[in-house]
Amino acid sequence: MTYQNIETLSWIGDQHGWLRMIDQTLLPTELCEIDCREVETVWEAIKKLRVRGAPAIGIAAAYGVCIGLQTLPPNTDFKAFQKRLNDVVDYLASSRPTAVNLFWALNRMKAKAESLYETENITEISNALFTEAKVIHEEDRRICRSIGKFGQELLRDGDTFLTHCNAGGLATADYGTALAVFFAATEAGKKINVYADETRPLLQGARLTAWELLQRGIDVTLICDSMAAMVMKQGKINGVVVGADRIAANGDTANKVGTYSVAISAKTHGAPFYVAAPVSTFDLTLPNGNGIPIEERDPEEICNSFGKRTAPQGVKVYNPAFDVTPAELISAIITEHGVISPVNQENIAKIVQ
Ligand code: MRU
Repeated sequence: MTYQNIETLSWIGDQHGWLRMIDQTLLPTELCEIDCREVETVWEAIKKLRVRGAPAIGIAAAYGVCIGLQTLPPNTDFKAFQKRLNDVVDYLASSRPTAVNLFWALNRMKAKAESLYETENITEISNALFTEAKVIHEEDRRICRSIGKFGQELLRDGDTFLTHCNAGGLATADYGTALAVFFAATEAGKKINVYADETRPLLQGARLTAWELLQRGIDVTLICDSMAAMVMKQGKINGVVVGADRIAANGDTANKVGTYSVAISAKTHGAPFYVAAPVSTFDLTLPNGNGIPIEERDPEEICNSFGKRTAPQGVKVYNPAFDVTPAELISAIITEHGVISPVNQENIAKIVQ
């Protein structure tokens, strides 16, 4: 099986079917899929990063709602249906806190159901929810292409760009956000070279981004996170593109931990720093990044990540999975509706409603 004929996420069968996904924890050595037939399996897959990346989490959660409703007995009354839907949505929302696309997708599913509540027709509502999940999935493919189209215009033939974490096809329905910019630039005939930060502690850059770029024939050089400032100082980097997990109304952007350091280095060395993200990644309820919930993960990810103990037992560990890059360090945000620059509340409001 190669990357070209495997989907990050796919639904198998009709409404009574199940969600299939690449188990990203096994990459790059094993390209395997897992089947999620229970909502608990979807929750676990999100929590454990078998599926990860903000848009992909949202799509998985939307399908997770459909899976969660499958266990209702055929003669369920409407009240019990409503309760189950709310429980399933709340449960899936508890899987990871930072990527707002998860909550965006769940709210969208809930709103679809609520728009039909007056019918009290469970079959009709369930059908509509299944269709909505598929629409969310299909929309994301188009959104990623559009982000690529707008973003590639910022890159010149021969540029070398740095990226952090994985915002590629694995993190979305297909094609990615940050990596879409590289793919589209390449398709437009530009020669693009990429430096990929390995992205401690879970190595999404090394395991996933390097793998995706190699699969698509794009020149990629892997570096440790701590080398980014040096390669910029050496003049090897023309710019940076990263994805995002949540963008506040003023443009402050949460993304994989380490992104903030990259943005500071880019500013110091005069390299443009771009964020590529769909409109669903904006959280306009937050005036700035201070209110973005930052996930803290198991210390074992740092001390014992890939089967080898690398820190003494009993050491204190702090393991935030994301950080927030202030808007003033971001040269532009690339969305499916166009490029926001300069990044400020007013310009964001023109593109994101
Ligand atoms: O912890 P992860 O792997 O889910 O973190 C992913 C990122 O930080 C991505 O950059 C972000 O979700 C954008 S994916 C298009």
